[in-house]
Amino acid sequence: MRLAVLLSGRGSNFEAIHNAIERGELHAEIVCVITNRPDAPGYQCARKWGYDSYVIDHRQFATREAHEAEVLRVLDQARPDYIALAGYMRLLTRSFVERYRNRILNIHPSLLPSFPGVDAQAQAIAHGVKISGCTVHLVDENLDAGPILVQRAVEVRDDDTAESLAARILVEEHKAYVEALRKLS
Ligand code: GAR
Repeated sequence: MRLAVLLSGRGSNFEAIHNAIERGELHAEIVCVITNRPDAPGYQCARKWGYDSYVIDHRQFATREAHEAEVLRVLDQARPDYIALAGYMRLLTRSFVERYRNRILNIHPSLLPSFPGVDAQAQAIAHGVKISGCTVHLVDENLDAGPILVQRAVEVRDDDTAESLAARILVEEHKAYVEALRKLS
C-alpha cells in the first residue's frame, strides 16, 4: 500500500504510522510527506527518516485552487494508493476529493459526527459529554465528514481540561489510525 501523508504540525499520528510500518505491524510504504507549514515538527521528522518530503506553503499561492494544484502535482507523481491526512489543517476542495475519491483518510479528535472543526476536545468538555474519542474516516467535501472506518472511545473525567482530554484521546488516535490503515491494506 503506497501511502502519502499530509500534515500541518506536530506529526504524532504520522510518527505512529511510521513506527507501525517499521515494526512490521502495517504493510505500507510512505511514498511522500507534504506539509503546508515550513515549521511543522512533523516535516522535520519526515526528513530525518528519509522520506520524500515537500513544503507547499499555502501562503505562497494566490488561491486555494492554485495551492491544491501544486499538492496534486506532487501527489500524482508519488502515485499513492491512499492519502492520510494527519493533522492537515486545510479544507480540501471538491475537485481534490473527487480526484482521490474514497482514498483520502482523516483523523479527528472526537466521535464524529459530534464536534467537527477546531478545538473538538474543548467542544466535548463544553457540552459535558461523558464519552468522547477519535474517528478515522474517509474524506468527503464537508469538514470532518465522510464514511467512518474506525472509532475509539475515551471516557471524559469530571476534572478533565481540554488539554488532559486531548492527551488521552491522542493515545487512542495513534492506535486508530494504524488500525484503519491495516484494514484498508
Ligand atoms: C490530532 O489530534 C488530530 O486528530 C487533529 O489534529 C491533531 C494533529 O496531531 N486533527 C483535527 O483536528 C482535524 N480536524 P498530530 O500532528 O500530532 O498528528
